[in-house]
Amino acid sequence: APLTLYVDELPSIPKIYGYSLSDSRPTPVNLTIGMYQTTWKFHRDMPNTTVFAFGTTAAAATFPGPTIEALHAVPLWVTWENHLPSTHILPWDPTIHVARPRHGVGVPTVVHLHGGVVAPADDGYADAWFTAGFADTGPNWTKPDYLYPNVQGPGNLMYHDHTFGLTRVNILAGLAGAYIIRDPLREARFDLPNGSFDLELVIADRIFATDGSIYMNATGSVPEAHPQWRAEYFGEVITVNGKAWPYLTVRRRRYRFRIMNISNARYYNLTLSGGRLPFFVIGSDGSYLTQPVATRSILLSVAEIFDVIVDFSATDATEIELLNHAPYPYPTGTAVEDTDLGRVMKFVIRQTPTDPPANRAPISPTSLIDYATPIEGEATTTRYIAFYEYFQSGHTTHLLINGKNVTDPATETPKTGSTEVWHVINLTGDNHPLHLHLATFQAVRTTELVDVGNFTACMQRLSDPVACDIAAHAVGSVTYPPEYERTWKNVAKMPPSTMTTIVAKFRIAETDQAYPFDATAEPGYFYHCHILDHEDNVMIRPLKLIP
Ligand code: C2O
Ligand code: CU
Repeated sequence: APLTLYVDELPSIPKIYGYSLSDSRPTPVNLTIGMYQTTWKFHRDMPNTTVFAFGTTAAAATFPGPTIEALHAVPLWVTWENHLPSTHILPWDPTIHVARPRHGVGVPTVVHLHGGVVAPADDGYADAWFTAGFADTGPNWTKPDYLYPNVQGPGNLMYHDHTFGLTRVNILAGLAGAYIIRDPLREARFDLPNGSFDLELVIADRIFATDGSIYMNATGSVPEAHPQWRAEYFGEVITVNGKAWPYLTVRRRRYRFRIMNISNARYYNLTLSGGRLPFFVIGSDGSYLTQPVATRSILLSVAEIFDVIVDFSATDATEIELLNHAPYPYPTGTAVEDTDLGRVMKFVIRQTPTDPPANRAPISPTSLIDYATPIEGEATTTRYIAFYEYFQSGHTTHLLINGKNVTDPATETPKTGSTEVWHVINLTGDNHPLHLHLATFQAVRTTELVDVGNFTACMQRLSDPVACDIAAHAVGSVTYPPEYERTWKNVAKMPPSTMTTIVAKFRIAETDQAYPFDATAEPGYFYHCHILDHEDNVMIRPLKLIP
């Protein structure tokens, strides 16, 4: 039977503080956070679900993981521990490029701070994995404790598993959580909702079997190529903070929501029911916007983050739903309107005597953080990055960047400190969320490709956009990213049959300062598509900085 919507209250996610206030000023700490197999209740009417979850102890482990709150300029050390059992709770695929512990014992994991400005050895390289008790480790494993310097400005990050070939199943099992960098003195000036009015909304779609277990297909769509892997995992149930279609009782006042998507492949096009209440977007990914931007819809890709204000005092409604309008796969797949996949959660609005009056001044375009705008002319290197897909009997068998595998030597080797322009050519039918480790970037324009069939055929022969005369094909209509995305991001959406031009900074975005560590050290970083099923097979490439 379908689950009843809006019967569970939205859980508030437990917090772990990445600093100590025991002295007169914030001091660094060393946290130990484990990955545990535990159970989680996703809905009132569902049995318990076995999950992999982050927590300081097994009993404290949650889905999603606890939110780590760090302070700008206060370094944080985290020792990540693997307490997972000898076998995975979900099926995985031995034929893709996958971490393989000796004797097949243990679940390999490695944790990446997504959006983090961190040194290569602390980045969670995909083959720096480790099994329970560090009994086995991957080729690039060096140490159990990671340093997060938090030198970047205030913003929203996440931490999640990043193991080669297992990212899609490790995150599906629950290994992801929010990481917030605060800068209290500066942010106090913005006068934003705080405390219990400042909440993460971590969205994840899942399929559950009737016994409550998370369902992941055991058979691939082209089993002769890959016995288990499929191109996209789409859930049937939308969860927020670990509950299926929850509700949240709110006061008639402003709230701040940090909306993050940890789904494998699903995009969300979010609106508020009734159509009159806007989102005021104040930031995206690791950065604030220059000023709040009002919008009635937000297109949220996998691994993208939007930081928004919703003013419930600007409506007379007593209930407002957070709706989704994104077809899956995005943008040309199955429509979700009039199904439960078109709903995310519900806000139930209660007036309380102490709340401010309902008719307050609109949120003004007060200034937040004024980042430098992206300048293409600053770039010292221009690259073409092409996304392809390969099929067998009508189904995707694998996806590549520039026709290359992840094991091929690095070809994207930016100078540390530099600016680069990347023209990202998407020759598939889907939108792909591009993610670069370490760097921040902005899409500056998207150019529609003409005569895509011939261009794709040429690219499949030559793998060279210039030889295939990209200049003659990138001549269609030009669109620009919406205003609510115009800041230094960690993820940007690449529409199908287009060339999207991004400006990437390989230095600290806000201050333009050099990284305070050797970003050119081994083993380097990655850039990839953040659809988890794509990055596992194998839409991911090394990103190696050079001096
Ligand atoms: Cu959010 Cu390479 O990952
Ligand atoms: Cu992709």
